[in-house]
Amino acid sequence: MKKIGVLTSGGDAPGMNAAIRAVVRACAYHKLDCIGIYRGYEGLIEGDFEPLDARSVKNIINRGGTFLKSARSKAFHTKEGRQKAFNNLKNNAIDALVVIGGDGTFTGALIFHGEFNFPVVGIPGTIDNDINGTDFTIGYDTALNTVVNAIDKIRDTAISHNRLFLVEVMGRDAGDIALNAGVGAGAEEILIPEQDMGRERLIASLKRSKASGKSSSIVVVAEGDQIGKNILGLAEYIREHLEEYECKVTVLGHIQRGGAPSCYDRVLASRLGVAAVDTLLNGEYNNMMGINHNQIVSVPLREVLRGGHKIDESLLRVADITSI
Ligand code: F6P
Repeated sequence: MKKIGVLTSGGDAPGMNAAIRAVVRACAYHKLDCIGIYRGYEGLIEGDFEPLDARSVKNIINRGGTFLKSARSKAFHTKEGRQKAFNNLKNNAIDALVVIGGDGTFTGALIFHGEFNFPVVGIPGTIDNDINGTDFTIGYDTALNTVVNAIDKIRDTAISHNRLFLVEVMGRDAGDIALNAGVGAGAEEILIPEQDMGRERLIASLKRSKASGKSSSIVVVAEGDQIGKNILGLAEYIREHLEEYECKVTVLGHIQRGGAPSCYDRVLASRLGVAAVDTLLNGEYNNMMGINHNQIVSVPLREVLRGGHKIDESLLRVADITSI
């Protein structure tokens, strides 16, 4: 093992820069060469490479986004694209790849490894926290704090006007952001894809909380929730069936993906980046470095991708009790 390539792929997440920095500096520590690959698998196919040394990654631990940039590559879905990527790695004498991203990134890595037996290690970087085999993904903690800060502000105006706010948060397939930020921000209701509350029950519950003395309400809606066609449709339904409140909608959108990473995300990214290089030096690959009960673990990519990510059901109960 002499030269390691590193890339970020899929949706960016705060803390990706800290993870790249850790990989680059772990390479420097072990006297390995490190190559930065721009724009994820797109840059891998196009040969958009740059050697990185310890100083190349100065002053980035605190920066959101990813300086290597990211992409969702269509070309990497094709055999031809992956062949080009492999040729570029060979021509540049790169011995292994560290890929930082989510399940789309890891699916690509697993296929690539299967075709070329090329050593690949994954680091989970996505705000969604929807990756099997790790308790936390890089960027999730920062996104939660961004959402809670935003809802705190929305609450101020909701209270002033006695309004109901629907706040849409990210999480295409997973309700982790909605559930945790919802509990942290004291939401009255939390709608997530993993649980179908039903529109009637939502209305009944909001009526009950209004009758119990609440003058305003916050409902956090995960973007992947299926209760309405979309959040605007749900707002229409609420306006028709709940006269007690004026209903407003806020979609937080990509604000959740930006900003300086939290300390937790910086430390997690640093630990996982160092562990990724360690695992390659130990001759282990085709795996993802994750965190389990605050210990760094190595999980086979196949297991990571088997699906079935679950939310913390006990938190649903906490949400119900504390929003009474
Ligand atoms: O996977 C991270 C994520 O932010 C999801 O929560 C969201 O659905 C998606 O990416 C948005 O992707 P894009 O930025 O490509 O629109």
